[in-house]
Formats: sequence, structure tokens, C-alpha cells
Amino acid sequence: MTRVSGLLPVIWLGCAGLGCEGPGGERSPQTSSFGRPLATEVRPALEAAVELYLRQRGSALRLATDPNERIGGFIGAEALIQLADRGEWSSIFTFGDEAFEAELSGAQGLGRGPSPTPLPPEVRRIHDGDRGGLDAGSCRGCHAQGGADGSGTATQVALFRGDGRHLSTATRRDAPALLGLGYLSLVAREMEAELQGRRATAIRDASDLGRRVTARLRAKGIEFGELSVEPDGTVDTSGVTGISSDLRVRPFGHKGRFAELAPLVDEALAVHLGVQTASRLEGGAPGAHGDGPPADPDDDGISFEASNAQAVLMAIYLSLLPTPEIRPPRRADLALSFARGRILLDTMLCTSCHRPVLRFDDYDLRVTGAGAAPVSYVVDLEIAGLSPVPRALDLGPDDEGFAPEGTPLLLFSDLRRHEMGPELAEDSPELLPDGAGQVEGSVFLTRPLWGLADTAPYLHDGRALTIDEAIRAHGGEAVVSRDAYAQANDEDRGAVNVYLRSLTRAAELVVE
Ligand code: HEC
Ligand code: HEC
Repeated sequence: MTRVSGLLPVIWLGCAGLGCEGPGGERSPQTSSFGRPLATEVRPALEAAVELYLRQRGSALRLATDPNERIGGFIGAEALIQLADRGEWSSIFTFGDEAFEAELSGAQGLGRGPSPTPLPPEVRRIHDGDRGGLDAGSCRGCHAQGGADGSGTATQVALFRGDGRHLSTATRRDAPALLGLGYLSLVAREMEAELQGRRATAIRDASDLGRRVTARLRAKGIEFGELSVEPDGTVDTSGVTGISSDLRVRPFGHKGRFAELAPLVDEALAVHLGVQTASRLEGGAPGAHGDGPPADPDDDGISFEASNAQAVLMAIYLSLLPTPEIRPPRRADLALSFARGRILLDTMLCTSCHRPVLRFDDYDLRVTGAGAAPVSYVVDLEIAGLSPVPRALDLGPDDEGFAPEGTPLLLFSDLRRHEMGPELAEDSPELLPDGAGQVEGSVFLTRPLWGLADTAPYLHDGRALTIDEAIRAHGGEAVVSRDAYAQANDEDRGAVNVYLRSLTRAAELVVE
């Protein structure tokens, strides 16, 4: 997709070798004032986008006519590592974006065997356990609604962990829009450090005092139950809530499946595209990833389809993606509804789970790969992130001397799992990777509401086509809140919807 963010003619897709500038954190003064742009402001951006579109079309035709252009797909790991060593994150972004959008073929490892076969890789919408689909030709295939790196449509739901044939065996999941993932990681790591700090203190205290010590688990104002420690260091985690007993904060996936992006990329590449990274080759039970030889478990005739470094660099690409924004309506009556809607989210207790703001202190994100001898980089998202980057406003202390600390993320989530009742429950629990236990069928991570206007359909399986339906489908811990919404008058429900519809993605020009 050819896109121009915030009306600035900053174009970073398809620029490899063309001498274009990367995104490098440029910010547009217009990003949050997109209301009715003047034609003169839009024109240069539009012309640039159209020109890039034509150039991309040209390169697709070149690919079709020149066999030498057909080799490759993902840029080589060595070249990527050199760029990362030099901190050239905007180039990494460019290549990551190309890899995310590239329609792969069997020659690049797409799909699975048995090989040799002259036929195109077979598409299997229903995944065959950990071996996955093939259910798309690119990451973009499911993440493109509502803008680049967006969500999936109602018909693009992924059908995970099935028997490869019967729909009833598969777990149906909606593809979320990929918004502000790097900042989500930052908040999650800081919360996790706080929780693990509390556990370490409790272990020390229990040993020093020679008695059982119980510690309340709280991070960034969010409650995660409690844990108890015996003097001999035995930890009882039965009182821990909303998080796995290892106290890792896992902000990714509807169930809170992954704490880090690189292992998520490893899994997405393998299960959706049949592209197996090196770490995928190392792990798993025998045969879990296919019946082929060790270097080519999916037996499609292509060995070592992607390296761990490539997954890390794709994870860095994902970490640089922009955050959404809040764009209140301009019409006076709607602006009033917007303001009222925000208050109602509090009175209806929505914000007890959908926390409007979580803050982080440090922009430095460490991205680490999976497998033996993992590649690891630190990226400063304050500089490298794509606009809009969350920024701290220096408001100074209020009348009571309170000054908010850290950079606010207007997320509308507590990054915690909740019991959502039979209304939303799936038939079976979900096993987490790396032996981190399982998440019960009725338990889901509070989905961040940022960007909501552009991320339909809603809920983990995409069953809700509208925001109203999504709210009414809440159950379990959210029953009181849901009933407050359902029993409110039309005007109040309208106000909640006006507010939620103002949670949008930043405006961008798109030429397709
Ligand atoms: C067939 C559709 C499909 C394809 C193709 C696909 N995804 Fe996804 N993606 C999903 C679904 C569905 C989820 C939610 C999974 C869950 O939580 O159970 C998801 C979740 C994610 C998330 C976590 C987002 C969040 O906020 O929790 C990331 C990151 C992601 N995908 C990246 C990728 C990358 C990178 C690729 C390409 C290698 C890719 N996806 C290909 C469907 C797809
Ligand atoms: C007990 C915690 C809790 C409360 C209270 C709660 N929610 Fe949710 N909300 C969740 C969880 C968990 C999900 C994800 C459910 C799923 O994926 O199936 C969710 C999902 C949503 C979604 C769908 C988001 C998407 O992108 O799919 C919307 C919209 C939403 N909530 C709005 C609200 C509103 C409005 C209220 C108040 C009337 C509310 N919620 C109260 C926990 C809560």
C-alpha cells in the first residue's frame, strides 16, 4: 500500500535502493488537526503517493519479466544485521514494511510440503495444529483494514489450532490492527519489572523474618491479586489474578499470549505463511512443525526459510508503528456528546478495565529473538518511532502538587486478563508457548480501545460488527458494566458511541 502519513510526503515503502528518506520520527504539525485539509496542502502529498504507486507497479512488472528479480523476498539477514548495528532503524522499517506486504511464493518458502511438487502451495484455512495453514500470502493479507498494518475483515478471521479439516475443531480469531506495539511493550516491561520486584522483596522478607509473607501485586495502579512466600522461598501464586503465575505481562494476542514481539513473529510466519525461522526449527515436540528433515520441517523443499535475525528485525518494524489518536467531533452538539461519553465510560465502570491512560518512563525498547544465541537490539522509540509518537506533556504539578510522571499512552486497557463469562467463552483453554501454562476459555485480555473506529469487526472472534454489539456481548466480570450500558437511555448510549468512534487512527492518504 502506498501511504502518506499526516499529509507529509514522507514515503517509506518500496524505497529500497531508490534513495528515499525513511520515516525517522518526522512529525507532521497537521497529524492531529486533520479535519478539512486544504487542497493545496494535500496536493504535493497526493502527487508523491501517486508517483510511488506507479513506481511500485513498474517494479511488479519488472519482477514478472526479469527472472533475476524473482530471487529473494526477505532481504538477507546479514544486510539487516549491518543496518541494525548502525542503528539505521528507518531503513529497517522500510525493509520490514516490504516484508510485511510482500506476496510470497513457494520459492521463498511459502506453504508446506511434501516436496517436490510443481503445484502452488495448498491453502488450508483451518490450521493443522502448530503446523498452521497456509491461510494467506502475506502478513498484509489479514492486517490491512482501516489503514496500513490494520485489522482483518470479518471474512479474514484466522482459524487456529484445528485438525486441518473441520471448522468445529479450530479457534476462530479476529486479526487486530497493529497499533503502537512498541509502546505497549514498554509499558508491559515496566509493569512486569514492578511485579517481579515485589516478588523478589517478598522472598527476601520471608527469609529474613523466618515466616510466611504475603505481598499485594500492583503495577501502574492495576491489581494483580497477591502471592505468598514461605521462609524457604516457596512461592504460592494461587492468589495471582489477571496474569500468568510467572508474572510476565503479555500484551499481545486476545488471550495475552506473547510478552515479546519476536517470538510472535516466529509463530505468525510459520502458522500463516509456512515460513519457518531458525528458532522454529529448534523448538517444539518432534513432528510438531512438520514431517520433513531438520532443516526443512515443513518439507516444502526450502531449507532455512528465515533466520532469527529476520524475525527480530520484523519485530523492530512492528515496534516502530505509530499510535492511534483521539479526534473529537467538531460539531458543537456532537462535541458535547463526546465529552459526556467520556464521563459515562467512568460511571458505567468501563474504565475499571479499559484504563484510559497507562504511562511509561523510558523509550528504550529491547527487542530480543528466540532460540539459542538470540539477537538483541535496543531501539530508542522516542527518536525512531513513526509519528504519532506518544509524548509527555509538561503540565507541571496541579493545585495539590500532583504532577503526572511518564509518557501517557491513551490505550483504554489494563493489559490484564479478565473472566468474561459464558457469553464470550471458547470451548477450550489456550496453551501458551514456552510452557507458560494456559488461559481458560472464558478469559481474555482487555482489548485496548484505541483506534477503535477503524478496527471493526470486534471481539476476539470478530463476532461483533458494531461497537454497540461488542459492548452488549460482554459478560462475566463486566456484567454490571454491560447492564449499565444496556439499560442507559438512547442519548447516553449514543454519547458513549460518539466518544468511542472518536478513537481513530491518524489520517493518511492512501493510493491503491
Ligand atoms: C490469516 C490471517 C493473518 C495473517 C496472514 C497474519 N496475521 Fe497477525 N494476527 C492474526 C490474528 C487472528 C491475530 C490474533 C491472534 C490471537 O490473539 O489469537 C493476529 C495477531 C497479530 C499480532 C498481535 C497484535 C495484538 O495487538 O495483539 C501481531 C503483532 C501480528 N499478528 C503480526 C503479524 C505478522 C508479522 C504477520 C506476517 C508474518 C501476520 N500477523 C500475519 C491474523 C493474521
Ligand atoms: C471486566 C473488564 C471489562 C469491563 C468492565 C468492560 N470491558 Fe470491554 N472488553 C473487555 C475485554 C476482556 C474485552 C475483549 C473481549 C474479547 O476479545 O472477546 C473487551 C472488549 C471490548 C470492546 C471490543 C474491542 C475490540 O476491538 O474488539 C469494546 C468496544 C469494549 N470492550 C467496550 C467496553 C465498554 C464501552 C464498556 C463499558 C460499558 C466495557 N467495555 C466494559 C473487558 C472489559
